[in-house]
Amino acid sequence: MSDPEFTTVAKVGAIAEGTGETFTVNGRIVAVFCEKGSYQAIDDFCPHMGASLAAGYLEDGVVACPWHAWRFRTCDGTWCDNPTLKVDTFPVRVVDDEIQVAVPPTESGSPDSDNSSTDADPSDPA
Ligand code: FES
Repeated sequence: MSDPEFTTVAKVGAIAEGTGETFTVNGRIVAVFCEKGSYQAIDDFCPHMGASLAAGYLEDGVVACPWHAWRFRTCDGTWCDNPTLKVDTFPVRVVDDEIQVAVPPTESGSPDSDNSSTDADPSDPA
């Protein structure tokens, strides 16, 4: 199995401490959070009714959805009120001053997606 392919989403400092930002990577909408100087990436789509989790309130490794306050751990995507439910998480790394996220290609996307673009895939229904 090959290493995941990382995509640069932002420069270090572009995501304010204690907040999240939304990025589209490989056709997925990803919430990247900065807390205590480190970064975590989860699926931005709240499984309740689809709010953007990046816009939620972040504290102690937990983001509360801005619509109805479902809470998810940013380290592993676990829903705090029912650990059997999770949102996807994605590897994050910092290279030089770039924040990079690895998101596997979506099954509806091109299987040989070898682009480095962060543009949304218009064929993705998400
Ligand atoms: S949409 Fe997220 S808790 Fe309702």
